[in-house]
Amino acid sequence: MNNFFISEPPFAAPARRLVTLLNKGLHFLKPGYQLTAAPNPVVDMNTLEQRINYFHLLDATLAAQIPGDVIELGCFTGQCALLFQKVLQMHHSDKMLHLYDSFETQFTLQGNVANVLERNFALAGLPMPVLHKGYFQQTLPSQLPARICFTHIDCGFGADALAHKEVMLHCLQTVYPRLSKGAVCVLMDYHDRRSGAIGHDVNPGVKLACDEFLASKPEQLVALYGNQISHAFFRKVAD
Ligand SMILES: C[S@@+](CC[C@H](N)C(=O)[O-])C[C@H]1O[C@@H](n2cnc3c(N)ncnc32)[C@H](O)[C@@H]1O
Repeated sequence: MNNFFISEPPFAAPARRLVTLLNKGLHFLKPGYQLTAAPNPVVDMNTLEQRINYFHLLDATLAAQIPGDVIELGCFTGQCALLFQKVLQMHHSDKMLHLYDSFETQFTLQGNVANVLERNFALAGLPMPVLHKGYFQQTLPSQLPARICFTHIDCGFGADALAHKEVMLHCLQTVYPRLSKGAVCVLMDYHDRRSGAIGHDVNPGVKLACDEFLASKPEQLVALYGNQISHAFFRKVAD
């Protein structure tokens, strides 16, 4: 079976091989530490630490049998989504994975983003998720499942902070009422220096939106260590 945490297309493979080689050399010098490859923000959409967080959050949600489907708002070519589908498969779950994206942001990718995502799922031998193509303003809430047990909101693409905040608020306002009691909502790029986050505040609109939205809600945000990129989550208190 493929590794849970290295499920993306082989963008980062050359860097990983170089780091492995250097670590072999370091092993003989016994410096007491090893190198890890920093994610390339252009092609690596998440860090190894974040993948470990996703794995455990989704695994625990499924083990607790929280009702509803799994969704991701902002899937691009599916690096996170591949991991989510693998965890669902590991649990023999009949929950659906729904992915939402305009599929119009290319970053540095050549070609059709949705086609690349579908190819990645086929190459990984994983069931195809349900794709909802279009801007969130059109697809949410009308195309959301009735109940949700886990959501990943990851819609940063370099827009200015206030524009991104508005998109985030729309996502939160439409998804929140459908989260089951105990459901997990993971917020990519939530960066709170006061909580000890390191790395870069790549999308400050996330914190602006989440803090404003959750101010009137009983849920508490938990900042997670993500190494070079921050994120956070909350667990829904009631249906
Ligand atoms: C950082 S990428 C997501 C990376 C993805 N989670 C992964 O693991 O590969 C952000 C995505 O959000 C999408 N996006 C941003 N704003 C959007 C909007 N208003 N409606 C639909 N998609 C949007 C972009 O098209 C882009 O693919």
